[in-house]
Amino acid sequence: MSVLSRLALGAGVSILLSTTALAADLTVGFSQIGSESGWRAAETSVTKAEAEKRGIDLKFADAQQKQENQIKAIRGFIAQGVDAILVAPVVATGWEAVLGEAKDAKIPVILLDRGVDAPQDLYLTSIASDQVEEGRVAGRWLTETVKDKDCKVVELQGTVGSTPAINRKKGFEEAIADHKNISIVRSQTGDFTRSKGKEVMEGFIKAENGGKGICAVYAHNDDMAVGAIQAIKDAGLKPGSDILVVSIDAVPDIFAAMAAGEANATVELTPNMAGPAFDALEAYLKDGKEPEKFIITESKLYTPADNPKGEYEARKGLGY
Ligand code: AHR
Repeated sequence: MSVLSRLALGAGVSILLSTTALAADLTVGFSQIGSESGWRAAETSVTKAEAEKRGIDLKFADAQQKQENQIKAIRGFIAQGVDAILVAPVVATGWEAVLGEAKDAKIPVILLDRGVDAPQDLYLTSIASDQVEEGRVAGRWLTETVKDKDCKVVELQGTVGSTPAINRKKGFEEAIADHKNISIVRSQTGDFTRSKGKEVMEGFIKAENGGKGICAVYAHNDDMAVGAIQAIKDAGLKPGSDILVVSIDAVPDIFAAMAAGEANATVELTPNMAGPAFDALEAYLKDGKEPEKFIITESKLYTPADNPKGEYEARKGLGY
């Protein structure tokens, strides 16, 4: 850890330094989950670009979807004495020990895009969406779209044990709870990937009379929805009309599908978690200002009424 950061972290020490000078001196470790989705690829690109813009030396570690690799990377960052650690936790549990080690080493940890089941004093702040609300937004869209019509839903869940999978399921179920005409008939993990989304959707279609019994697919991310769209087409059905498609992320490919009439709704998750994370970190190191424990990003609904072609064009070069 740099001398400046250690000083600034000392209790009650107020050092007035310009943010630029401080940022340029920072080394930050980033333990990323992997690259399971277009959204995650964009988050990685945005984080690297934000760090570069601010003169932060970013040490990047790709965990290839394994928590043990994330824990190893975090321990490595602690051993190197970085100024701060960003972590996108693949699952919610199992973090207490390693976050405690970072705390003992006086290295602030910032959680990106997913939460942990661990005491809040083990991390400085968490930058993420309200994932329960994301599920509610998707569910409300479905209730308003199908109205009184009977609707059997199949659900593609995210990674088992991850907070977005747990919370997006919860929020969607809450939103449809009072609508007895809507029910989730099948629900399985597609691990947030396109290939697994397709494979699981193929199974759902087989199990539900060649897909004829399915009214809608709710996917916890767009990549799984894109995989599901392919499975629906392969089964000779029309995604977007025979089977409605609603998902979360707002990646360029879902807007391309929307423009083609093959997807119906998505809830935006910004890939820019690093901007607010570095702002919070810089303010904290500058004058000891504790950020809010939870910094919540917006969850905006997009449908074909929102110029999907334009959204595709605007997003396609952003690292997704
Ligand atoms: O934690 C955020 C989720 O993780 C995104 O919705 C998904 O695409 C990613 O893999």
